[in-house]
Amino acid sequence: MSLKEYWYIAAESSELASKPLARVVLGERLVLFRGPDGKPAALEDRCAHRNIALSGGKVENGTLRCRYHGWRYAPAGTCVEVPALGETKLPRRACVRPYPCVESQGFVWVYPGVEAPPPAPPAFARLGEPGWTTFTMRNLFEGTVEACMENFLDCPHTVYVHRGWFRTSDPRPLKAVVTRSADRVEAAFEDEPISESVVSRLLFPKGRRLTHTDRFILPAMSRVDYSFGPDRHFIISSWCTPAQDESHTRVYTAITYRFGAWGPLVRLFFEPLCRTIIAQDVEVIAAQDANIRRFGGPRFTHLEIDLLGPHIHALRAARARGEILEPAAGEPVEIRF
Ligand code: FES
Ligand SMILES: [Fe+2]
Repeated sequence: MSLKEYWYIAAESSELASKPLARVVLGERLVLFRGPDGKPAALEDRCAHRNIALSGGKVENGTLRCRYHGWRYAPAGTCVEVPALGETKLPRRACVRPYPCVESQGFVWVYPGVEAPPPAPPAFARLGEPGWTTFTMRNLFEGTVEACMENFLDCPHTVYVHRGWFRTSDPRPLKAVVTRSADRVEAAFEDEPISESVVSRLLFPKGRRLTHTDRFILPAMSRVDYSFGPDRHFIISSWCTPAQDESHTRVYTAITYRFGAWGPLVRLFFEPLCRTIIAQDVEVIAAQDANIRRFGGPRFTHLEIDLLGPHIHALRAARARGEILEPAAGEPVEIRF
């Protein structure tokens, strides 16, 4: 099982309206459109006739018409009309490759693999559940999936890249326990103090115990939980889809939280705050990627305090080779941020 044998987000549902949408997902060039029933479809973005991109065509009654000679394709990739042939029977070879495609939780997922896909794509935790408020963000990062995933799950950078916004440096050490299983790795923080920041002042309740967990789930999902009990809980989940090349990753982030009846109101300032913070990550990842390319490749120094990064690299590299890593439970690590 390689990294291709998973569902990946190709677009947010709202991006797929009446026009075809071109997307590259793990190197596969796709065109997305909505079929006659409104369900999304994904085809190879290349007309079977003379190979022009189908994404330059038009959607007509749930079929996709090529802009060059007008061949028309159904969501299953079969050609249903060749205008120059008239009513003559269409040859079966006039078809393009379809990709499994489903819509779930406001996202359009495609399966770029060749094996049978899992029945359903992964789910964003708590999204759409009663009592929870959600907003989503999408960003094109100039960086690898590993660089993005590592960044979203890395605490020490927050006091530099997001100083004052998200966290302010605190000299007190805390303990983190890292546990890795076949498809994920997580860091659980014990007795984390709440540091001074715009986020903590506006959103975190005073005098409550914070439970903080960072998780990476194969192939490309991160999930961060800040919980202060059942009525105050913040979950930041991000999904990475490799885009046109190794250095471009489409990131879909869902911020889902529980804040009692105030949830929708909290969104008014929480959403712009999150957009400011993620823009800082977009900038720092682009700078990292540009420099790695200047040097012709990475040369990382992994330390014990890089809690999840090395595991993310190892889990993804193993899965790319078709292997599964042994579970590992580490000793508690002392860390400051
Ligand atoms: S190239 Fe598409 S119809 Fe000819
Ligand atoms: Fe960050």
